[in-house]
Amino acid sequence: MRTPYYLYDLKLLDKTLQQLVFESNNYKIHYAIKANTDIRINKIIASYGLGADCVSGNEIKHALKCGFKAESIVFAGVGKTDQEIEIGLNNDISCFNVESIQEIEVINSIAKKMNKLARIAIRVNPNVDVDTHQYIKTGVNENKFGISIENLIDAVSQIDLCRCVELVGLHFHIGSQITNFRNFEFLAKKVNYILDYLYNEGVDIEHVNLGGGLGIDYENPQQNSFPDFHNYFNVFRDNLKISSHQKVHFELGRSIVGQCGDLVTTVLYVKEGASKKFAIVDAGMTELLRPALYGAKHSIEKCLPINLKKEKYDIVGPICESSDSFRKGYIIERLSRGDQLRIKSVGAYGQVMVSSYNLRDNPKVFYQNEGVSNDYPLKQTIVMN
Ligand SMILES: Cc1ncc(COP(=O)(O)O)c(C=O)c1O
Repeated sequence: MRTPYYLYDLKLLDKTLQQLVFESNNYKIHYAIKANTDIRINKIIASYGLGADCVSGNEIKHALKCGFKAESIVFAGVGKTDQEIEIGLNNDISCFNVESIQEIEVINSIAKKMNKLARIAIRVNPNVDVDTHQYIKTGVNENKFGISIENLIDAVSQIDLCRCVELVGLHFHIGSQITNFRNFEFLAKKVNYILDYLYNEGVDIEHVNLGGGLGIDYENPQQNSFPDFHNYFNVFRDNLKISSHQKVHFELGRSIVGQCGDLVTTVLYVKEGASKKFAIVDAGMTELLRPALYGAKHSIEKCLPINLKKEKYDIVGPICESSDSFRKGYIIERLSRGDQLRIKSVGAYGQVMVSSYNLRDNPKVFYQNEGVSNDYPLKQTIVMN
């Protein structure tokens, strides 16, 4: 099979979804489609009754095509175009998560023209900092996302003035790949404060959407192939104070699909540099952008590790950019030309960011069969697209 290719383990996806459904109990979960838009994966997620969190008109159309119900689709994003708002209204989606006061006016005027009533949630920027890479923090004042607490009452007043929008919820999303649960505790406490504040101003809220952000274990994917859904939801059960009529929503992406994907690549060359050894592989930042974009570190395994002697390599791609590097000083069984490697935990924000930079071909996608063990080499795979 020609590498590089994405290889998904749908059995692991199923198990992850079963745990998620069990642990989330009466919370409503929307899958953040942006994490992985593979049709087969999205259909499986929809079959578990999850809603969809979309960030573009095309994602809304895609979610509908994959079986997500319009009444459980939410639409977020700081820069929704008029056409995208029309797509949301035409399909009677559950909610627009609005990110500015001007957006409220625009949705109202488009809804008026279409003779629709838009359900909206205000995305609040709660100014809660998190322990993650600065490019994937979204809930502090310097980020472009959401409406600040200082402008919240103005946003509510604007909604009151508009006849074709109704306020149904509050929305928060403070960042991604968060593994320090204290961050979520702070969020829950900040949300309590905001709900109290609005209640005292006479504003009652139907649902609170706490976004996504639950991180996965990139360093030890085999030992921790499931995220800690149990303790994650318990943070909110223990700290969030909501009334019995209020519903709690989440929008998880990475934690659902992150561990179910590998990127399989072949070593093209091994070369001795002045101070280090390079293993040059046939996958690059065009197939997996995360390391170049955020310095993300994925665990890498050698298929068929017969030569148990370990050595240190910089594992790099073929693209003409120095940032095209997967791991620096990585210790792995000795590598030779032709060896296959699996870059682990690429199910989220992997395939969706594939580009054709350097006029590269797009990687193929395979699904590990139900009957196939995790032993290398792979014996059976099904080509889907
Ligand atoms: C608004 C919103 N909700 C949910 C998510 C999903 O986050 P994660 O994949 O970390 O769960 C994102 C991702 O950036 C997002 O921007």
